[in-house]
Amino acid sequence: MVVALQIKFVLILSLLALINADLRSTDSSLLEDATLDTFSIVRKYGYPCEIHRAYTEDKYILEMHRIPHSKDCADVAEPRPVVFLMHGLLSSSAEWVIMGPGKGLAYILSEAGYDVWMGNVRGNTYSRNHMTLNPSSSSFWKYSWHEIGYYDLPAMIDYVIKETRVPKIHYVGFSQGTTTFWVMASTRPEYNDKILSMQAMAPVAYVGNAKSPLVKAIAPFTNSLERLFKIMGTNEILPNGKVNELAGQAICLEEAMTQILCTNLLFLICGYNGEQLNSTMVPLIVGHTPAGASTRQIVHFGQLYNSKKFVQFDHGLISNKLKYGTFKPPAYDLHAIRAPIYLHYSDNDWLAAPQDVDRLSREIKTVVGKYRVPMAKFNHIDFVFAIDAKKLIYDRMINIMALFNK
Ligand SMILES: *[C@@H]1O[C@H](CO)[C@@H](O)[C@H](O)[C@H]1NC(C)=O
Repeated sequence: MVVALQIKFVLILSLLALINADLRSTDSSLLEDATLDTFSIVRKYGYPCEIHRAYTEDKYILEMHRIPHSKDCADVAEPRPVVFLMHGLLSSSAEWVIMGPGKGLAYILSEAGYDVWMGNVRGNTYSRNHMTLNPSSSSFWKYSWHEIGYYDLPAMIDYVIKETRVPKIHYVGFSQGTTTFWVMASTRPEYNDKILSMQAMAPVAYVGNAKSPLVKAIAPFTNSLERLFKIMGTNEILPNGKVNELAGQAICLEEAMTQILCTNLLFLICGYNGEQLNSTMVPLIVGHTPAGASTRQIVHFGQLYNSKKFVQFDHGLISNKLKYGTFKPPAYDLHAIRAPIYLHYSDNDWLAAPQDVDRLSREIKTVVGKYRVPMAKFNHIDFVFAIDAKKLIYDRMINIMALFNK
C-alpha cells in the first residue's frame, strides 16, 4: 500500500516536472510581488487599499483587505454595490490580486464599480491571531472548514455590512470558499438574507468524483493521516514563509529539475493547465500559496471523498455521539440555502467534477444559473489564475451581478 502510494507520488512529481515554465522571463519588479503582502501589492498598482479586522465568536482575529473604489474614481461618495471574495484552500486574499490589474478579479470588480472586500480565513498568512490561543499551540488548529463556515464567514460578512451600511452583499467564492458558504448558509440560514447573489466558482461540496491523483492516492489513508499528524504534532499544513519565498525566487529561476521544487502542494492537489497558466506568473503563485491551513481541513475533504457525502467532520463513533448525538456525522442541510446561487464549473476540474456539481445543483433549491466554462482543459485553479479567466468567467459573472444592483 505504502509503496503504491510512493509510486503514485513519484508519477505525479514527474508529471509536474513537465511544467516548462520560462521563469527567467519574470522581471524583478514583478518578482517583488511574490514577497509583498496583499495590501502592498494593491497599493503598488495604484489602487486604494484598507486593512480591516473581524473577530469571530470563538475569538479568532481575521484580517480583511478592501479596495473601496477603483484607481481613478473621482466620485468616491457614490454608494457602491459591495462584493465579498472568499479564497480557496491553502490560499489567501492574495489569490484575487497577484495576477495584476486587468487580470485579478479584485481589480476587475473594482473597475466595474464595486466596493471589494477580500476575506482571509483563520490560520492563513493574514489570520494567524487569536485573543487567547497562540498559533504554536495545537488548540489553535483544532478546526476544519466547518468552523470557517460557521464562525469566520458570519463574522466577516457582519463586519462588511456594518461598515458599508448596505443591507446585502454579493458573495464570490472559489473552491473551499464555496464549501464554507454552503456550511454557513445551511447551518445559519439567517445569513441567506444578507446575500444578494452567490457566485460559486469551482463549487465544492460533494467530491466523490474528484479526479486529482493526489487526492485519490491519499484518500484511503485519511484516518491514518490524522493519526500521523497527531503523532508528528503537526496541526498546520505548510505555512507560507521563508521556504516559500526561496522556492518562489532563487530556486525557481534555475532550470528543469529544481523547478519541481517550486511546484507546490496547490499544483499537486489541483493540477495545472499549461495553456492557461502564465508561466511568468508561477513564482508569484508559489510565493503566496500554500498560505497555511489546518490539517483537519484536508482530512475533512478526504472524509467527503471517501463517504461521497457532504457531512460534518467525522471524529469517530464515540466522539460523534458525544458531539452530534449520532454515531455518524450529520449531513449539511442544503435545502436550507435560500440565497440566489450561480454555479461556474468546468469539465476538467480535478476537484469539482461536473457530476458532483450536478448533484449539488439538484440539492440546492435556489440555483438560478449553472455555467460550464467553454474550454475543455480548464482546470480548478484556472478559475483564479487563468490567462483568459476574465473572458471565460468574470465578464459573465459581472453581468449577472449587475442584475441585482439597483
Ligand atoms: C504573462 O504575464 C506577463 C507578466 O505579467 C505578461 O506580460 C504577459 O502578457 C502574460 N502572458 C499572457 C499570455 O497573458
